[in-house]
Amino acid sequence: MFKVTFFSAKPYDISFFNKNTLSDKFQFDFLETHLGPHIVNAVDDGSFAVCAFVNDKLTSEVIGVLAKKNVKVIALRCAGFNNVDLNAARQYGIRVCRVPAYSPEAVAEHAVAMLLTLNRKTHKAYNRVREQNFSLNGLLGFNLHGKTVGVIGTGKIGKAFCKIMAGFGCRVVAYDMVPDAELASLCVAYLSFNEVLQQADILSLHCPLTAENEYLINADTIRMMKPGVSIINTSRGGLINTNDVIDALKLGQIAYLGIDVYEQEEKLFFKDLSANIIPDDTIQRLMSFPNVLVTGHQAFFTQEAMAQIADVTLNSIDLLSKGSEPDAAVMLT
Ligand code: NAI
Repeated sequence: MFKVTFFSAKPYDISFFNKNTLSDKFQFDFLETHLGPHIVNAVDDGSFAVCAFVNDKLTSEVIGVLAKKNVKVIALRCAGFNNVDLNAARQYGIRVCRVPAYSPEAVAEHAVAMLLTLNRKTHKAYNRVREQNFSLNGLLGFNLHGKTVGVIGTGKIGKAFCKIMAGFGCRVVAYDMVPDAELASLCVAYLSFNEVLQQADILSLHCPLTAENEYLINADTIRMMKPGVSIINTSRGGLINTNDVIDALKLGQIAYLGIDVYEQEEKLFFKDLSANIIPDDTIQRLMSFPNVLVTGHQAFFTQEAMAQIADVTLNSIDLLSKGSEPDAAVMLT
């Protein structure tokens, strides 16, 4: 039986991996801690694979120790791989696989949920009614029907988001270097990046973070937008210059902000810090605005996506253990 050691294992990871149909082929060792140089020696010498998540650090040093322990596979149960030294993995002959896509609809639907919470203030209504306050003062919203929605990046998630917003009766405009022909024929007008910023009442970010587009949303680009724009970011925190956005919120240039990602999220997200003093003043300032909604990188977190993550991950490890080759899209080395 092949042994798989998990890092950053949360109760929901344990549950979805244990109930996967391939689970009886493996022996799982679930560790709650993040993987890094301090803990890599905890990996049992008999482990065939190490299964890691977004905040585990697979540096060259860590990979070197894994190689000495005869680990053959690093299985990332996520799409991103910026936390893995792929060259070191190649050098040590360790195969690295990932889950390239897991339910794009999950992320798109969460972006819509954030928008609907902000525009109809359901989060405030929920608390208010629980206190027997049925007044409508302060709950005035706006219709999505008829509004122009600007989408940056129309890959798998952006495409799903465009289709939902078109269903709401919105005009959907988008910018992507590689326009999607199906979307263009169905419901989306492709424009330049600046035109999308100028025309959008609501802007939603669905492109990856790259060296070129870091701080895509900054003081200069915010100035191009309609006063009172709503911005939703479920992609990566680094796409937004948070301090510039805070300034624009104070001035009312941005009317609503919904973020599932944050540039300094590594120190906060996926942890229960409810009894801690948080030293990050920027996130505290953001959370103090009544028109800002923050969720902790949960857009992907649906039953369907979690089942798919477990399925793709175990299938890849299973194939590699038999000497077979998983799909090219899954393999990084
Ligand atoms: P994808 O690769 O299918 O699509 C990305 C699209 O963005 C492509 O069409 C590409 O041409 C376009 N693009 C790249 N740079 C751009 C730029 N500067 N301006 C405009 N368009 C640009 O990726 P997918 O699956 O749709 O994911 C998008 C992003 O969503 C991921 O990169 C990730 O950051 C984020 N994500 C967030 C999750 C969450 O739980 N919050 C979960 C999964 C992904």
